[in-house]
Amino acid sequence: MNRTGATRSLNAVEPQPGVSADKPFRRLWLGLSLSSLGHWLSVPALAALAGTVTADDGLPAQARAIAGVLALLALPAVLLGPVAAKLAGRADRRLVMTVADALRFALVASVPLVGALPWTLAAAFLVGCAAVLWMPAVGAVVPELVPEDGVAEARRSVLRGAYGTAPVAAVLFAVLALIAGGVFDGAADRADLPLYVTAVVFLAAAAVTFTAGELPARDAATAPSPLKLIFRRRGGQGGDTPVAGAQAAGPVRGLGLAGVVAALTAASVVAVARPYANDLGGGDPGFGSVLAGLTLGTALGLFLGPRMLLPLSRRRVLGLAAVVAALALIPAALVQNLVVVVFLTAFLGVAAGVAWAVGVRLPDPEGGSFGFLHAVALVTGLIAVAAVPPLAGLIGDHRLSLGGAAYTIGGPGVALLIVAVLSVIAALVAYRRLDDRRGIPLLADVRAALAGHTYTPPEQAESGGPTVIRDRGVFIAFEGGEGAGKTTQARLAAIWLRDHGYDVIATHEPGATKIGMRLRAMLLDRETTGLSSRAETLLYAADRADHVANVIRPALERGSIVVSDRYVDSSLAYQGFGREQDVSEIARVNAWAIGGLLPDLTVLLEVPPETGLGRLASPADRIESEPAEFHDRVRLGFRALAEADPDRYLVVDASRPQAEITREIQYRIREILPDPIPAGTEDITSTFPAITDA
Ligand code: TYD
Repeated sequence: MNRTGATRSLNAVEPQPGVSADKPFRRLWLGLSLSSLGHWLSVPALAALAGTVTADDGLPAQARAIAGVLALLALPAVLLGPVAAKLAGRADRRLVMTVADALRFALVASVPLVGALPWTLAAAFLVGCAAVLWMPAVGAVVPELVPEDGVAEARRSVLRGAYGTAPVAAVLFAVLALIAGGVFDGAADRADLPLYVTAVVFLAAAAVTFTAGELPARDAATAPSPLKLIFRRRGGQGGDTPVAGAQAAGPVRGLGLAGVVAALTAASVVAVARPYANDLGGGDPGFGSVLAGLTLGTALGLFLGPRMLLPLSRRRVLGLAAVVAALALIPAALVQNLVVVVFLTAFLGVAAGVAWAVGVRLPDPEGGSFGFLHAVALVTGLIAVAAVPPLAGLIGDHRLSLGGAAYTIGGPGVALLIVAVLSVIAALVAYRRLDDRRGIPLLADVRAALAGHTYTPPEQAESGGPTVIRDRGVFIAFEGGEGAGKTTQARLAAIWLRDHGYDVIATHEPGATKIGMRLRAMLLDRETTGLSSRAETLLYAADRADHVANVIRPALERGSIVVSDRYVDSSLAYQGFGREQDVSEIARVNAWAIGGLLPDLTVLLEVPPETGLGRLASPADRIESEPAEFHDRVRLGFRALAEADPDRYLVVDASRPQAEITREIQYRIREILPDPIPAGTEDITSTFPAITDA
């Protein structure tokens, strides 16, 4: 097994002769993607067949049959996750995965042969059971197949393979339904084709996985039960950890509710899409088109979420996305035109995708928003697919005559409208709970974000704020990504303070002490290869411990003002978010290293990594040469830390002119000075020569 510590991205590195570690992974990935394609294809294919075999029994029976298929497909994921993980942990993984796919091949192929509802329902449940065996087995195998530094990237490509195949399956289903409509006369024959194709895809997945070679696994696979995750979360307090920031946020309020809205709106569309598309005259190709719109929109939303409106509070973006998803469902329920419905559901998908992408990146003290949101989505989705179609059947079709024109409003449309109204209410509550900028008008905030900066209300910029008198010095840290200009701003702040008669210690990390300089050389030299992420974290923490003990604490005890270029947040952002290590663990290590000493104010200079890295004059050091995604994660990490503790941070848009930034920082620093400088002296004192980054 190839286990070098060298930084290596699976995408960036071409397979080299002799290095065979990637090959089994690629086959596994292909097997997983085919298996997932089969899984996503089986959803509309089985639902369509259930609808076809009950076509003569009326809408209520048809709706119940579709709800049964969808709910039985999803039920094992909610109930059997931990059991399946244990099973997959004991048996040979390759065997588990191959058998799971071969079984699904047989089940799906048998459904059109039998052509009866009870067997379709039983097959749906068994297909769902086989599906839950896959993911834990893959999760245990990945760390053994790729080098340590590639594991995070490998896990991401596994997720892309598992979920990115959903839109492909939806489009494929629509195409197959179109072809079947053109070739076959009988409705039953038309519903068979997608099922046979699904069966073949499962067979191909089984063959690929079987030939993937040895698939060793490292740890026993674990999968927490979704219900447990949700209930532990509801009871959890979080928040009392030593270093303020990500871990002091407490459970993010409103996160779960926003997740419920995103999952409820999307799953309700899936649940009634077939009868709804039938009402609108689209048949199964229409059903496939609605699913394709929804899944393609979601994929776009997942891409946009971490990139859009970056200066806007992430919590506001999450709340807004939930509101937009809920609102989009109203016209989608009312419009009587299939093409418009497809576009509206795509739009709903974008909003739900954005909500998901932003939600999973919110700091969560209890070990990851991803697991929690995943559990919320699963349970909400299950309830929606089980309840919404029967509701549509119960309501039935109604004929209205408005001004002489007859207007038919179908049960599926009314059911969606009811879900939409409930979702709007829930989304508004979620937005209120999430909002961390109360009192700041949303429109001004969004407009400023569109223009690329964070909105500051005029009264906040002008007021001096409360004066803090203290019996020790003041500690100010400057943080930000590469080339954000914090070194310049930290120096300007130090000079400005000195100019006003304060005793100022200007310092930096890493490398402000003698020992620190040696550590800095190790940490930043590009010759340093193979340094593990944990060792890197500890070296930065060691430098910080020395810095606090020998420079920062003595200066504060003398009553000086300490201005540090980087401090503990750099480790949380770079080693935590950047290197994708557990942020709360890094916080714990650092809390011990610094003896709990936090800055009175942290100035975060915000700039897109591409702009920041473009500003650097000297050759890139070891950290600067990390790939763009690393720097994107660092930026989001800094933002999350600032959002979790807004009183202790000043977030500055660092793409603005330098003088403007300097002035904004001075306003804020003045608030925490023991004997603040009168604002009127500003013009006299701002005439010193500008110093720029060396
Ligand atoms: P430095 O040359 O001081 O540049 P700048 O601070 O202007 O970016 O480089 C410090 C590098 O070390 C920087 O790339 C960020 C990284 N770093 C961490 O990864 N973790 C930490 O805890 C600290 C303090 C810095």
